[in-house]
Amino acid sequence: MATNRTFTMIKPDAVKNGHIGAILEQINGAGFRIVAMKYTQLSAEKAGEFYAVHKGRPFYDELVTFMSSGPIVAAILEKENAVSDFRTLIGATNPAEAAEGTIRSKYATSIGENAVHGSDSDENAAIEGSFHFAGTDIFA
Ligand code: PPS
Repeated sequence: MATNRTFTMIKPDAVKNGHIGAILEQINGAGFRIVAMKYTQLSAEKAGEFYAVHKGRPFYDELVTFMSSGPIVAAILEKENAVSDFRTLIGATNPAEAAEGTIRSKYATSIGENAVHGSDSDENAAIEGSFHFAGTDIFA
């Protein structure tokens, strides 16, 4: 098992609802180490760029509006099998389908406002991490 990285965002709904601390505690408790982190807000343009792969899908505009609607926490996390283990920790995209105890089952309110993002591959984790952080912002 290789030690590697994933990228996450605590989304505007979870920030607004006061769940930053509980979510970070669950992430740390599951063995992830934070190697970069910031509290920020995406412009609509930046959110559109981040989610460009979904352009043309029916939910794209809603997703971009939501992700630029308030502050987020962006972070790079390190752990063995980071991408896969983090996807398990956060649960299914739709909180109604997320396994009990997962972050989305506890803190997400809908498929659109689903509390956290997690990269879906090692390649995307690297791209998404670089989107938000310079090499000098990462402390391994
Ligand atoms: S896919 O097909 O696996 O890439 O799609 P999925 O991972 O399910 O979703 C990609 C991102 O789009 C968000 N999403 C939505 N937003 C608003 N409304 C609807 N209906 C909707 N469906 C999916 C979803 O939360 C994913 O965001 P991220 O940040 O990648 O988790």
